[in-house]
Amino acid sequence: MKGTSMHIVFAASECAPFAKTGGLADVVGALPAELTRLGHRVTVYLPRYRGVLEHVEEPKVVLPSLTIPFESYNHFVSVIDGGQRAGVQIYFLDCPELFDREGLYGAAAGDYPDNAKRFGLFARAVLEASKQLGVPDVFHVHDWQAALLPVYLRTTYYFDPVLRKIPCVLTVHNAGYQGWYPPITTEQLLLPWDIFTMDRLEHFDTFNFLKGGVVYSDAITTVSRKYAEEIQTPEFGFGLETIFQRRAADLHGILNGVDYAEWNPATDPHIAAHYTPQRLQGKSGCRRDLLHAYALDNVPETTPIVGIVSRFATQKGFDLIAEIASKIALEEMVLLVLGSGEAHYETLFLKLTEKFPGRISTRVQYDNVLAHKIEAGSDIFLMPSRYEPCGLNQIYSLKYGTPPVVRATGGLDDTVEEWNPETRAGTGFKFSGNNPLDLLAALRRALAAFQDKKSWRALMKNGMAQNYSWVEPAKEYVAVYEEVTQRRA
Ligand code: ADP
Ligand code: GLC
Repeated sequence: MKGTSMHIVFAASECAPFAKTGGLADVVGALPAELTRLGHRVTVYLPRYRGVLEHVEEPKVVLPSLTIPFESYNHFVSVIDGGQRAGVQIYFLDCPELFDREGLYGAAAGDYPDNAKRFGLFARAVLEASKQLGVPDVFHVHDWQAALLPVYLRTTYYFDPVLRKIPCVLTVHNAGYQGWYPPITTEQLLLPWDIFTMDRLEHFDTFNFLKGGVVYSDAITTVSRKYAEEIQTPEFGFGLETIFQRRAADLHGILNGVDYAEWNPATDPHIAAHYTPQRLQGKSGCRRDLLHAYALDNVPETTPIVGIVSRFATQKGFDLIAEIASKIALEEMVLLVLGSGEAHYETLFLKLTEKFPGRISTRVQYDNVLAHKIEAGSDIFLMPSRYEPCGLNQIYSLKYGTPPVVRATGGLDDTVEEWNPETRAGTGFKFSGNNPLDLLAALRRALAAFQDKKSWRALMKNGMAQNYSWVEPAKEYVAVYEEVTQRRA
């Protein structure tokens, strides 16, 4: 198998530009293209959410009705050909009663109550569609939403002569989200009760999608080396640490790449001016443009802009910021925040904006263009995540000459090296532990370093010289695909 071309089927709940809430979409939007560059064929299956077809020139129905059972009733899923992007075939699974809704996973009132059904049927529909549209050499599924695919494959599809030898790789982008549902889900999704045991898919009397995926996949990957170690500990495994330990021999940490066609200050169409490590002048134009977007045009040039772009979730460590906000407001800096998500973090940042006008300013929204402007126009990027499987924003910020301040966890630890003013080595600033004063100290090191213009430029250039393209990670995935294919041959 080594060196030969493979057909890989991706099953995922997000893919840029069609449907995105976070970094999963960036990965599923970019890794397949790199795999095709390596000579492989990739097909991506996504739910047909509301609005996704706006991105498709000529959607056509290629399979009008796949029969997918749930309890005693069937759902009928049609498959829409979304065309090819960068050589990658996109198919949408269309089932309006499940996916034609306002949000991907939920609305303002919270998660949709039928998500187990939605994503259970999605996994099964990918198997059925693949049999008609192209049986792969490997399935590659992402996060809990696609994690039942290997469970079906090794249980109810066990005797299928077409699928039974196909291996499956699961990528865990975030072990904090597992898909926990009542035991009856087993029966509703027509899975056999014998999988509802603690060494398989049951987790303390709940039906656990991610656990099923980890148990039934041939190999598991996570999105950084450090996170692959962390999830085997109680602090980061969210209850699945012993399952991850059990699969340690098949667990690989492959650091995400980023798509430099989208995130590069030399070419980015969303920013006010372009710049490179050799010609940094454009960055000050981006800074002015960003301040203008926040109606803060009068901030002096000597005051550093600290930027945040994030989902608002507990994972991201904003409670640490809340604890030191009044100290941050006394520092010579301006904090610009872009984020949306959990209501209490939205309220937190809006309150801080009210309390410290001109020092802290927040936009509660999801805005891709503003995200690019923050990467380019800020001087420092702040990402104090409690845990971070990989994290893409800090990798973007390195490329944009915006040194990051991060907590030393997961991919943040793997991608940021502490700046050493003596040797002029390093790319950013790190802190460990849960003490907000350690975050403050790291931020203060960054603010102090910013005042020495010459060495700050060296720090910016160190970051801009880093290369986190998909070229190497894609090869690591291919090695995993080859290994699991051999094992099942
Ligand atoms: P996560 O997947 O945990 O949210 P990542 O750092 O891997 O974290 O990826 C986040 C992605 O989502 C990045 O592409 C980032 O620019 C984008 N993003 C997050 N929040 C927003 C927002 N409010 N507006 C625009 N883009 C956002
Ligand atoms: C998850 C993680 C993030 C990672 C992204 C893409 O959402 O929270 O750290 O970068 O997936 O793998």
